[in-house]
Amino acid sequence: MNNKVFAIKKITLSSTAVSIIWEDNKKSLFHFLWLRDNCPTSFHPDTRMRIFNILSVSKDIYPMKIKKEYNRLIIHWSENNHISKYDLKWLRNHCYTNKNSQSTVSKKIFWKNNLKSKLSLISFNYEKIIKYEKNFIQWLELLTSYGVTIIKQSPTTTNSGFKILKKIGTYRETFFGTPFEVANIPKPNNQAYTSDALSNHTDLPYYEYVPGYQFLHCLKNNAKGGNSTIVDGFSVANYLKKNEKEIFNILTNTEVKFKDNDYTQKSLRIFYSPIIKLNLQKNFDEIRINLGAMATLDIKSNKMKRFYEAYRFFYSLLHNKKYLVEFRLKKGDLLCFDNRRILHGRASFNPHSGNRHLQGYYIEREEIYSKLNYLKKILI
Ligand code: OGA
Ligand code: ZN
Repeated sequence: MNNKVFAIKKITLSSTAVSIIWEDNKKSLFHFLWLRDNCPTSFHPDTRMRIFNILSVSKDIYPMKIKKEYNRLIIHWSENNHISKYDLKWLRNHCYTNKNSQSTVSKKIFWKNNLKSKLSLISFNYEKIIKYEKNFIQWLELLTSYGVTIIKQSPTTTNSGFKILKKIGTYRETFFGTPFEVANIPKPNNQAYTSDALSNHTDLPYYEYVPGYQFLHCLKNNAKGGNSTIVDGFSVANYLKKNEKEIFNILTNTEVKFKDNDYTQKSLRIFYSPIIKLNLQKNFDEIRINLGAMATLDIKSNKMKRFYEAYRFFYSLLHNKKYLVEFRLKKGDLLCFDNRRILHGRASFNPHSGNRHLQGYYIEREEIYSKLNYLKKILI
C-alpha cells in the first residue's frame, strides 16, 4: 500500500470521536472509548491479551490534547493522566468507518454439478500440502471457498490421516472415536457401517454443535459399488432463497427434531434445529439433514403438512442431477468437506466382491479458519 494511505492530512474532534482525513482523502472516525480501549498499553506484552478494563474510565472520557508526531497519533486523555500513542498504520488498518474486511476466509463459491468437470481444481497432492506452506494455504483456501477438496496420494497406513489434521490444529472427538471406521460390520450401530446406500446427508445433526469439517480417508475401495456423491447444500438452499420463498421460510424457521439412539451408547441424543440455519446477517450458517437421524417429528399439527412438502422439495433437489457430483474414492484419497454445508452420500456396495474401508475424522471450522488467519498473517 502506498504511504499516503497511512499519512494524516487533517485531524478534527467532535463530541464523541476523532475524525481523521488521510492523505488519500479517505475519512475515518475513531470513537473516544474505542481509542482508549485500544491504547497499545491496554495489552499485556506477553499474553497479548487486553488488560485494560473499560470500567476504569468514565463513559465521558475525551482527548484533552491530540497531535500527530512522525508516524504516530498522540492523545492526552482527560482521565488518569493517561497518554496513548497509536501507530498510524495500525489505526488505518483498523478503521471501522470504511470497513475493510480483513477476514482471510475466502468467499464461498457455490457449485452445482459443473464441479464434476473441475474435480482437478479441488484435488491436491498430499506430499505437497505436507511439505510446502504455499500449497498448504492454497488447499485450505479452496477448502473454505468450495467447501470440499480431495487430497490424493496420501499414505494408507492405519490412522495416517491424523498427520494432516494435526498440521491444522485439534481434531474433534465424538463418541464414534477418532478415527471412526467406515466398513461393513456385523451388528452395525450406524447406517454408515453397513454396505447399504447412504442418501446425501450431513453427519451428526443431533449434536448442538455439529462437527464443522469431515475428512474421509480411503484406505481400501475395491468392492463393487460404493461410489461417492457430494452436493453443495448452500448452493441448493440459495436456489430456494431466490425461487421458492415459502419453502425457504419453512426450512429456515421450523425446528426439526434430530436424534441418535445408538445401542452401544448410554445416552439418547436429541436436538432441535432448522434444516437450513442462517446467521444474523441472513447468510447460510449450516444445513442439517440426515434421513437416518431425523426423529419422529413433532412439529405443530397446523404446520406438519406444509413442512413435509417443503422438506420433500429440498430433499429431492439435494439428489437432483443438476446439483450432484458423483465420483469414486480411490485408495489414498482423503475427501475433506464442510459437514455443515456439503452433503455426502454413497451407493451401496457388495461386501463379498472386495474390501471397502474408510477412516473418518472431524475437525471444527474454526481450526481451519484460525490456521488460515495465522498463515496469512491477518492484522489484529
Ligand atoms: C459416513 C459416511 C460415506 C461412505 O461415514 O458418515 O457417510 O462413503 N460414509 O462410506
Ligand atoms: Zn456420513
